Amino acid sequence: MSKAKSNKQVYIFAIIVCVACSVILAGAATLLQPRQAVNVKLDIVKNILVAVGHTAEEVNSATPKQVFDMYAAEFSETLVDAENQGADSTFMKQELITLSYPRQQLDDMGLSDILRIFNSKKELLARRSKKSLEQYDPGYKLIHIWKPSGSIEAYVIPIEGYGLWDIIKGYVALEPNLNTIKGISFYEHKETPGLGARITEDWFKEQFKGKQILEPSGELASVTIVRGVASDQYSGSDLTHHVDGISGATLTCKGINQFLSATLATYEPFFATLRKAG
Ligand SMILES: Cc1cc2nc3c(=O)[nH]c(=O)nc-3n(C[C@H](O)[C@H](O)[C@H](O)COP(=O)(O)O)c2cc1C
Repeated sequence: MSKAKSNKQVYIFAIIVCVACSVILAGAATLLQPRQAVNVKLDIVKNILVAVGHTAEEVNSATPKQVFDMYAAEFSETLVDAENQGADSTFMKQELITLSYPRQQLDDMGLSDILRIFNSKKELLARRSKKSLEQYDPGYKLIHIWKPSGSIEAYVIPIEGYGLWDIIKGYVALEPNLNTIKGISFYEHKETPGLGARITEDWFKEQFKGKQILEPSGELASVTIVRGVASDQYSGSDLTHHVDGISGATLTCKGINQFLSATLATYEPFFATLRKAG
């Protein structure tokens, strides 16, 4: 066989292998997409349940269906816009339909799923309507209301922002007085194991329970993670706004301090209205 002919065969073989691998990988990615979407949602729902006091063991030992059923039985969801007025999913659905999302599929989804998809398409939708993201964004905020036995026992809001390495996501649950923290959870972070990743350890999250986000005057104070031990540095009502830091993770904690207080500030006008309404 001539050298040119054998080279040609090698190239053809390499191309066939590349094409076959691409087809297999693309097929696997497409097949796994729905499962990945369910796992993302499962992670979110588990963290909401943990924020209100369900144990990690309880939610992790349950099947996905049991976890989703638990959420559906215990929670309702409410949406407010940038002006803290009650909102619904009508606008988001209309907009997603223009991107060819099937109406029926959207009608079958809960508020949080629609908001998640809408948020992921917001930049595209803003470009299409020739507006800046700021002009276009309705600033929707979701609140998960925990009613395990009929009456409201907690309001849960998503928190999200940069730690040291990347975005940290989580949930904070507030007692019905919208002042006392009922629980907090963190997930989907890329902080270093043994350092920043210790934010998911129970001792760290437990210390937020019972802390208060408001000053006695009613001003928003948030809760701040200190460097070191909070009780060495604060006492009395000041201590109700501070928790112990994690050694070697000051930057992660600083990030959490910033996005926790910024998120609480965006919800505060709505919370103030709810507090007034009693
Ligand atoms: C490999 C590596 C990973 C690190 N990961 C984190 C982290 O996840 N979170 C954090 O706040 N700091 C992290 N740091 C930074 C140091 O832990 C920190 O700047 C320094 O030790 C200060 O300690 P302190 O946080 O107790 O003040 C990391 C540093 C290195 C070298």
